[in-house]
Amino acid sequence: MDKFTIDGPTPLRGSIAVSGSKNAALPLMAAAILGDSPTTIRLVPKLKDIYTFNNVIRVTGTSVQFDEENNTLKIDSQNLGFAEAPYELVRKMRASFYMLGALMGKTGEAKVSLPGGCAWGPRPVDLHLKGLEAMGADIKLEKGYVMGSFPGDSVPGGEYELSPSSVGATVNLILAAVRRAEVFTIKNAAREPDVVLLCDTLSKMGANIEGAGTDTITIRRVDSLKGIDTSNDPDRIETGTYMIAAAMHPESSLTLTGCKPEDLGAFPDDLRNTGAKVTIEGDTIHVEAPETIKPVSVETQIYPGFPTDLQAQWATLMTQADGRSTVTDNIYFDRFSYVPELKRLGADLSVKGNRVTIDGSSALSGTSVMSTDLRASVSLVMAGMIAEGTTDVLRVYHLDRGYEDLEDKLNNAGSVIVRHDED
Ligand code: EPZ
Repeated sequence: MDKFTIDGPTPLRGSIAVSGSKNAALPLMAAAILGDSPTTIRLVPKLKDIYTFNNVIRVTGTSVQFDEENNTLKIDSQNLGFAEAPYELVRKMRASFYMLGALMGKTGEAKVSLPGGCAWGPRPVDLHLKGLEAMGADIKLEKGYVMGSFPGDSVPGGEYELSPSSVGATVNLILAAVRRAEVFTIKNAAREPDVVLLCDTLSKMGANIEGAGTDTITIRRVDSLKGIDTSNDPDRIETGTYMIAAAMHPESSLTLTGCKPEDLGAFPDDLRNTGAKVTIEGDTIHVEAPETIKPVSVETQIYPGFPTDLQAQWATLMTQADGRSTVTDNIYFDRFSYVPELKRLGADLSVKGNRVTIDGSSALSGTSVMSTDLRASVSLVMAGMIAEGTTDVLRVYHLDRGYEDLEDKLNNAGSVIVRHDED
């Protein structure tokens, strides 16, 4: 397992090109399976989760070619003959559960392993299963697998209200319904850009979907879907991560290129409230760090509210703020595994329930810290970049799941990060 050795403090200066979105690409890859001809997806990041999902899809007999040099995937499900997703692969990456909707949509049946938990606790899929049953599917659980099937070529459909709203359940229900449900309505649907891109892409393939981007999405069955040549979105969470990193050292001045600012919701204004100067011009975002970081408390919400995937990064910024703030996660109530690690670096913060309280102006000093999950890990890297001395971040394989070329991008902007093979 690799580790990063980071020497700080260093400001971020220069420019970083944002990569394609992990969380937008995965639903597109699942949607490509529904096509009766090959689909090409551009701007796909070279990330562990993408490679894992490529292998999950290949198990079905679907061909997946990844032109890494051009970040382009070609998916052809014409030889799909095995509608299953095995535990050995699904346990590695939760979004593999999208195979349930994709395979049921394509073949009318599927056998998919229940996903494991994750670093910060249980992540249920009850809404996925109840929504499929509401659509008219038969759902059985056997030995840790979901056996899903539609009784005929199509089902009447109906409606299902997600409570709470769920990105994954919205994606899975759309994938299952587009070729199978006469009329199916998802209430309290997720409004994330990842869902909007999925709906737009399926519509280009020939699907009949109304309400993308709203909390009510209605799907009407079509007989066939054709493969298309399409592009993924830039990664809004990677963009937000680097914007926060650029506010942490007073001499930082960072330009982000290839962004999709409209996907950031209210986040740029939250960052401006800390005193950072954020200017947006087309697909370029520029962040100037403030002399003094103002404490700004945030609460995570479903899109377009503050994203839970930026919660750890924000708390890390607030360790440097001139005063006390709180970060509350209303989506995942226990996503705070980074807190003890930040404390090891000298930060002054504590968790109670789903809220972390941060007393800022902490002088961070380098030591060894442990990655636990994707967003916690990048927060430890950000902390190491401004900590005095050397910080070792262990188990950086978590980072390789969601940040393409992280150390190269940051080193080209002034950081001093060296990857070591830990074994
Ligand atoms: C997606 O996960 C993202 N993953 C997550 O990003 C992100 O944190 C999350 O959405 C919330 O925005 C991908 O897109 C691959 P949910 P997902 O279903 O779909 C509860 C990252 O770091 N829930 O929207 O699994 C659930 O417990 C990852 O890139 C149920 O109760 O999230 C949570 O409290 C981490 N029952 C809330 O809904 C269900 O059946 C939102 O979860 C499903 C979800």
